[in-house]
Amino acid sequence: MPAIPPPRGTRDLLPDAAPAWEWVHEVHARVAGSFGYQLVDTPIFEHTELIERGVGVGTDVVDKEMFTFEDRGGRSLTLRPEGTAGVLRAVLGASLTQEIRPVRVRYAGPMFRGERPQALRYRQFAQVGVECIGERSPHLDAEVIEMGWRFLHELGITGVSLQANSLGDSEDRTRYRAALIAYYEPLEARLDDDCRRRLRVNPLRLLDCKRDAALAVDAPRITDFLSDESRIYFETVLDDLAAAGIPAERNPRLVRGLDYYAQTAFEFWHSSLQGAQNALGGGGRYDGLAEVLGFAPTPGIGYAFGVERLLVTAAEGGRVAPPQAACDAVAASIEPAQAQVAAAAARSLRTAGIRTVLDVSDRKLDRKLRAADRLGARVCVLIGSDEAAEGTATVRDMRTRQQQRVAVAQLAAAVADALDAEPERQEAPR
Ligand code: HAM
Repeated sequence: MPAIPPPRGTRDLLPDAAPAWEWVHEVHARVAGSFGYQLVDTPIFEHTELIERGVGVGTDVVDKEMFTFEDRGGRSLTLRPEGTAGVLRAVLGASLTQEIRPVRVRYAGPMFRGERPQALRYRQFAQVGVECIGERSPHLDAEVIEMGWRFLHELGITGVSLQANSLGDSEDRTRYRAALIAYYEPLEARLDDDCRRRLRVNPLRLLDCKRDAALAVDAPRITDFLSDESRIYFETVLDDLAAAGIPAERNPRLVRGLDYYAQTAFEFWHSSLQGAQNALGGGGRYDGLAEVLGFAPTPGIGYAFGVERLLVTAAEGGRVAPPQAACDAVAASIEPAQAQVAAAAARSLRTAGIRTVLDVSDRKLDRKLRAADRLGARVCVLIGSDEAAEGTATVRDMRTRQQQRVAVAQLAAAVADALDAEPERQEAPR
């Protein structure tokens, strides 16, 4: 029977890549935590209506990429394509903004978009993100962007280009949309089917039209349609960033793929990522989203980064956690009769904080030692019939092959000493 591959556009995280994966998540938790952002976790599926209203009908994500199914009660559910709508639902549903404003939260987890799979574009991918909910201030926009910038710095990712734009308020966008339609309508013949559809349902996305990118060069710019208030708001964000030493590039064509943005929108680009996949992360302000979801008007801003893209870029910069051994020590019985004594030895080592794998298989000793080597164990604790009878254990240093017999009461200390003597302890870079 042929082996079953993973579904198209998905991938498995295997143990050799796990330390780097955990490292990215730890760094994000540490950096966001240093700004006072606390963990939230929301379901990976939501009512389809939440996604449709939140992300917006007319976006590629909703129109073409949703994984939607019915539950047994006939309700329509969708695997979340992004985290913001669900997090906002959770925070406002629990009335958290009535106690503290803004509510600062971070999240991490899988997202699902039925896109055409390509390098670094998956159907299931992981994001780490933050949302700052309940207050509207350009200083918060700058805080969120600074946090993303700092996160990339801590990952050792350099050569990042921060692209920033203002999408104005809804009146600014209404005027801008009309100008875009007036510009693109006479050019309709040069648009592909997708962009002809955008002309009717989501004209802002025309700026991302791939078929004739030159058209966007002469298209009207949102910056010419901003009210004074929107303009001052954006300038304050850029000023704050400059004061923090963060170079932002103004990009009046940056529109983002999700519908909920208003005012500040931004992306972190990296040249080593190709074409449409060049964004490591992105975000922006979404002051109208709460109302669209049926809550009282509540402003918010946030970002999300794609974990797979961060890992590739960090590896190119030479900064990823090295693969780690599965354990520090193996505790092995020499014969099956010593299984419980070996298990007790393993238990005492774990209590002392030593990562220990138990081997009570009926393999021969040399095979057990080879297996311990493959696991990366630096110490092997052997329990044979003599050791079991006298309450001792043999501690073998896997590198020097030296062995010593110690009383069970001294076992953890002896193993810890042997591990400390080891010159290279493998740790994630800090
Ligand atoms: P987004 O720009 O759609 O924003 O996604 C953020 C990041 O997720 C992208 O920059 C990219 O690194 C990664 N990503 C997106 N799609 C894929 C894919 N198919 N395969 C691999 N990686 C992908 C959001 O999701 C917003 N919720 C961000 C936000 C938070 N805005 C406000 N708060």
